[in-house]
Amino acid sequence: MNAVLQYIEDNQKRFVDELCQYLRFPSVSAQPEHRADMAACAEWLANHCRQIGLEAEVRPTAGHPVVVARTRRTGKPPYLVYGHYDVQPAEPFELWKSPPFEPRLEGRSLFARGACDNKGQNLAHLIAVEAYLKTNTELPCDLTFIIEGEEEVGSKNLEEFLQANRKELACRAVVISDTGMPSLKHPALTYALRGIFACEILLRGPSRDLHSGIFGGTVDNPAMALCQMLAQLRDKNGRVNIPGFYDSVAKLSAYERQQAARIPMTEAQYRKFLGVPKLFGERGYTFVEQRSARPTIEINGLTSGYQGEGSKTIVPSWARAKLTFRLVADQEPDRIQKLIMKRLKELCPPTVKMEVTAGHGAEPYMMSPTSPLAQAALRTLKEAFGHEPISMREGGSIPIVTQFKKVLGAECVLLGLALPDDNAHSPNEKFSLDCFEKGSRMGALLWPELAKLG
Ligand code: BES
Ligand code: ZN
Repeated sequence: MNAVLQYIEDNQKRFVDELCQYLRFPSVSAQPEHRADMAACAEWLANHCRQIGLEAEVRPTAGHPVVVARTRRTGKPPYLVYGHYDVQPAEPFELWKSPPFEPRLEGRSLFARGACDNKGQNLAHLIAVEAYLKTNTELPCDLTFIIEGEEEVGSKNLEEFLQANRKELACRAVVISDTGMPSLKHPALTYALRGIFACEILLRGPSRDLHSGIFGGTVDNPAMALCQMLAQLRDKNGRVNIPGFYDSVAKLSAYERQQAARIPMTEAQYRKFLGVPKLFGERGYTFVEQRSARPTIEINGLTSGYQGEGSKTIVPSWARAKLTFRLVADQEPDRIQKLIMKRLKELCPPTVKMEVTAGHGAEPYMMSPTSPLAQAALRTLKEAFGHEPISMREGGSIPIVTQFKKVLGAECVLLGLALPDDNAHSPNEKFSLDCFEKGSRMGALLWPELAKLG
């Protein structure tokens, strides 16, 4: 093991260069103009996997391809490592201090879209395995990497891929680094993720934009109607105002609340960090609980009428909102979708026509934070980071995690390496080189621990 850890330490500079190569691909899965960049990124990744000694293939799906790479089979306990090479759109570009696809190092931070979410994190695991292979150290597990290109758009083709390849992908558990940790002194095991339901509401009013002086006052204004509908979806106590929405929400246990309270951030620090004048959230819960263990509604986008300079006096012909609901155990996206649709129909006035389009959905995920698997992960975190780890829930979603459970019968161990100020999905995303190095160490130390499990 010493040789493995030494190899990781000795080759840091090259690893950072390789991460920069990986980050130069604008692999934005949501934008059709980046289709070729997606394919090129997948090819680069498969090639990189071959260079470090893995067998690797770029496998097609109905959408963006999946990279599958594996160590030679030796009959040792099989594990999967999951990650994604796609990234969120980098817009608005003008808010970046340097171009999002030209990685820039400042101190120990590497800035680029995808740096922490998720290229830096999945490369750390590849480095760990490279270190075993290149030092001829026996790897105690048979590993398969599955690095996909559609996580940021809901992983809609990966389930079929898992189904079609379930024999090949059979494993004891799935290791994922695509979440966060509170600080370098607080490495974390994430034992729950929120699910999600996304939809778009379009309200249509008059057949064209109308002169608001000539016609205003005789027809409904779709933007106004939409705002009035949306305003009724959340109450003043921060609760989602949809009948039945909370029916199956699992209660937080005393153990969970106690773990949540260990997270090293005060409400004042959190408020300042986000730049808001005052926090807002569901009453009766701390901000840590609100953002990880409670369901929410968010408006992600709201568009109608004239957005250009100056004024234009119109009644717009249409208005549109993009919404997402974050879901927690044990809410079911399909059932929640029905409740939402029903409520929207009730709230829509007869003066406009409504179209609702359902988008991606993902179920919430929860594993036992005290199982042998969780304990093995916690021991590894402690050894790799030299600090007592935290068990926590997180608010983001990784759509495929529940499918690993359903299709492969495998639990997911979430060992996140992103720091709270890494700006995932925001301008100036970054990854800490300390997290990169410690994360690679963690990746290396994990396999002997997991191999021991029955
Ligand atoms: N890495 C995130 C998920 C995440 C981030 C989990 C932080 C926990 C803490 C992932 O890439 C992501 O952003 N997922 C999307 C999924 C959605 C598009 C279906 C999300 O959560 O918005
Ligand atoms: Zn993401």
